[in-house]
Amino acid sequence: MISAKLLQLVIDASHDGIVVAEQEGDDNILIYANAAFERLTGYAREDILYQDCRFLQGGDRDQEGLQLIRDALKQGKPCRQVLRNFRKDGSPFWNELSITPIYNESDNLVYFIGIQKNVTEQVQAQERIKQLEDEVARLKAQLAATPLPPEC
Ligand SMILES: Cc1cc2nc3c(=O)[nH]c(=O)nc-3n(C[C@H](O)[C@H](O)[C@H](O)COP(=O)(O)O)c2cc1C
Repeated sequence: MISAKLLQLVIDASHDGIVVAEQEGDDNILIYANAAFERLTGYAREDILYQDCRFLQGGDRDQEGLQLIRDALKQGKPCRQVLRNFRKDGSPFWNELSITPIYNESDNLVYFIGIQKNVTEQVQAQERIKQLEDEVARLKAQLAATPLPPEC
């Protein structure tokens, strides 16, 4: 077994955000956030402890992936979705959020662990590829519709 101190160093060495939340009514309130979560979101731990992470969504509360997260949380199941989130300074980032439920020996759900991975560069690269594919398709269609010059 490794010591709690070493485990803490391991968690704080992670480049991904790691949080632990506990159910309180309809909320899952944060009881732990690592250093990478602070770097990723710009929020200091003391600002966000005992709050539900939905504050990261700003006004963007109808995102496609959110319904799947809501369903998984209700059912106490793990899930992974990419969400649009906002840092404390308002700047957006794409968050690949993985949530894992933790059950005790009596099979009661006690915590959720959340891991936040910044996938902004990957999402932007995919968007750029899609734009280029659309542009190629448009140019191909334009070319196909252009009459060929008469042969000499
Ligand atoms: C452990 C844990 C971590 C979460 N992390 C995030 C997060 O980083 N970003 C986010 O937008 N939502 C996150 N959520 C989801 C929201 O906290 C919230 O549960 C979700 O939006 C559903 O609530 P709602 O119906 O009010 O939207 C997390 C949830 C849990 C349980």
